[in-house]
Amino acid sequence: MAIEIFNHGAHRIIRFDDLTEPGDVQANQFLIIHGEKGMLLDPGGNKMFSKLVAEISKFIPPQKLEYLFLSHQDPDVGAGLNGYLLITDAKICFPEVWERFIPSFCTKSFVKDRVVAIPDRGMRLKLDGAEIVLVPAHFLHSPGNIQVYDPTSKTLFSGDLGASLLPFDNAYAIVGDFGAHVKYMDGFHRRYITSGQACARWATMARALDIERIVPQHGALFEGKAMVAQFIDWIAQLKCGVDLLAEQNWYQIPK
Ligand SMILES: [Fe+2]
Ligand SMILES: [Fe+2]
Repeated sequence: MAIEIFNHGAHRIIRFDDLTEPGDVQANQFLIIHGEKGMLLDPGGNKMFSKLVAEISKFIPPQKLEYLFLSHQDPDVGAGLNGYLLITDAKICFPEVWERFIPSFCTKSFVKDRVVAIPDRGMRLKLDGAEIVLVPAHFLHSPGNIQVYDPTSKTLFSGDLGASLLPFDNAYAIVGDFGAHVKYMDGFHRRYITSGQACARWATMARALDIERIVPQHGALFEGKAMVAQFIDWIAQLKCGVDLLAEQNWYQIPK
């Protein structure tokens, strides 16, 4: 279902949350519209391309997409890139450290002169005059990972950080009870998010942003300053990834 999570005249944000094939990991795709232009975040794989294009068309002609943003290199983020490059003139915003991997997703000639390589320290863009901030989130979880902060709506698109794997029969869109929600995030974060140090440093940066909502690529979003603060406090103290190496004791030659 397409949910409009922000609408203030010329500025809109739409979340698409049910385009994933049954059996695949649920993923959200986001469309930011400002004025005449659109920015599509983490559009996903080939299997949802035609469905997502049809959904986008209800809000903006796909040819009006100015940017395709890929937060990192995972297939659920950008494996369907080729199709969007064919039907639009949009630029691809991709972390600089992953730039050389883009041709693995698409026809090399489609990429020529269309890549905005996002440096490690992030950058700012204009979407039909509206500022969009691309902020670092390295190791959360990819070594080169970027998030999108939209100052107009005060929305932080956090990619896999904050992802929740919700039960099929209870896939709520907005977190109501943070304590009850943690069990749907915990296992994913312990295994896929790389380091507590990265989490704590990210939390310090996030607290300096004026955030009304945090919207991950998987599962439910965190709405309102109180819920955002609870999420950032949880991330700030998280032990995950390499913090758990001693506990896991994986590095044994398999018998
Ligand atoms: Fe990922
Ligand atoms: Fe993901």
